[in-house]
Amino acid sequence: MLESVRQRYEAFPEPSPAVVPIGPGQLDRLDDNLHFGWSWSRHVYCYRRTEGLRVLDAGCGTGLTTLGLARLNPGSHVLGVDATPRALELARSRAAASAPAEVEFRAHDLDDPLPAAWGPFDFIVCRGVLAESGDPTRVLKNLATVLDHRGLLHVTLPAQVGHVPVRQMRQAVLTIAPPGSSLEQKAELGLELFRVLRPDHPIRRYEEAYSGKAVPSVARFVTGYLNEDERDWSLPQAIALLESAGFRFLFAATRAPWRADRALAGGAVPATLKARVDGLGPRGLACLVDALDPLLHADEYRVYACLAEYEPQVPAWTEESRSEPAAVGRLIPHRTHLAEPVTPQAPSPQAKVAYRVVTGAVGEVAQLSHLMVAHIDDARSCEQIDALVAEATGVTESPEERQKRWLELAGTGFVLFEPPDRRQYVDCVHLGPVLDRLDCACPRRWVHACEIHRHCTLAAVPPQDEKHVALAQALTRLGTARAAACAACPDYAPEE
Ligand SMILES: C[S@@+](CC[C@H](N)C(=O)[O-])C[C@H]1O[C@@H](n2cnc3c(N)ncnc32)[C@H](O)[C@@H]1O
Repeated sequence: MLESVRQRYEAFPEPSPAVVPIGPGQLDRLDDNLHFGWSWSRHVYCYRRTEGLRVLDAGCGTGLTTLGLARLNPGSHVLGVDATPRALELARSRAAASAPAEVEFRAHDLDDPLPAAWGPFDFIVCRGVLAESGDPTRVLKNLATVLDHRGLLHVTLPAQVGHVPVRQMRQAVLTIAPPGSSLEQKAELGLELFRVLRPDHPIRRYEEAYSGKAVPSVARFVTGYLNEDERDWSLPQAIALLESAGFRFLFAATRAPWRADRALAGGAVPATLKARVDGLGPRGLACLVDALDPLLHADEYRVYACLAEYEPQVPAWTEESRSEPAAVGRLIPHRTHLAEPVTPQAPSPQAKVAYRVVTGAVGEVAQLSHLMVAHIDDARSCEQIDALVAEATGVTESPEERQKRWLELAGTGFVLFEPPDRRQYVDCVHLGPVLDRLDCACPRRWVHACEIHRHCTLAAVPPQDEKHVALAQALTRLGTARAAACAACPDYAPEE
């Protein structure tokens, strides 16, 4: 870690204010990128359980993110590491004063390899660190060595376009500050300048979007605007950085889903051009969005990656399940605990019910959907819930309409589907056919992952379907060979 960076964080530990304990609502504002299962569900990437995760918060600062990770991933063990002693001290006091969680903090400079015994981690989060690293490739390579073979990395990097107001403000302060000014003096000068900026000045608008305030505090100004070690990237550069360290880019989370009409005039796109855009993979599309609609990334890229040698398959709800609405009717939905209705539930004029997602985001669903969600108790099938809703409202939906409604809700994280018989796993909404996954040294691990993450769906096994017959045979083999094959697997827990 650069000495200048360490000195700045000793004086101004981040995130500031270093409140002890966590103030009301502080964790609610954490974004859902810290939620492993939610990231997975939203971005369609995951390979294993969401409980009992091993999580690393690399460059944890004063521990706000670390505690957020523990809260958003219940049952996980979270390790926060940082090279600034003052930040770690505050992180430990914050954790001690906050709700108990499986959180631990250790001193470590990410420029050095992490001890192998600390890993492997299922989920590594590294936010606000690479921008000021003297050697970001080295830091990333060190993280790669402790990421589980199929783990997920989430890093943030300042985005070139979104970051312009920060660079401009810094340039303004450095231009007018007398030579030899201290950091505090530069901050005072910067704040003086800030106060006289026009209300509609881009720098002011940037700060308002960032902190909700028209004028930042001294600590926020120092860490937000006066970081001379900080650099920024375009998305292709950020991806190249990850690749140079042995990662595979998966996706960049944006503030909202991209829609072509945000940048392109409707109806004017030639079919050939549209086909080109539609043919882009996640990497190409992310780079195109960055070029045409860069502010969708706000001031930083929130990038997800896995190890280069791992090629996650895009999971899918199989065609068979999609085309058979009755299959949905047989499923048992259960709550995700990601979203709860906002109380009091006064019916809105649009007949919508407001929901609050675990991260604090608020959205609305139709009252009919709300009624469906309200009847979930992990024991009723979709058909039974449908009957209850019909009884309560007099509205009957066709199996097709019901399937569409459940899938929409599932897509927003309200409800997950679980097979009535946990021993029969044929397809999994997020992993795709389980057979595809029997490539692990311990095949039982995949089956077990499905059982645990509970996104599985049950489809009848058509005897004429070769794939499913092969799966059934594989599972039978596993049943007998399991004890021997899985003895060495850390995930294997013998069943009673
Ligand atoms: C901007 S703060 C971000 C804190 C936290 N990740 C968050 O998002 O709230 C950056 C933190 O990274 C730490 N850091 C920077 N370079 C580091 C390195 N090479 N090794 C360990 N920690 C580092 C700093 O000490 C500082 O606490």
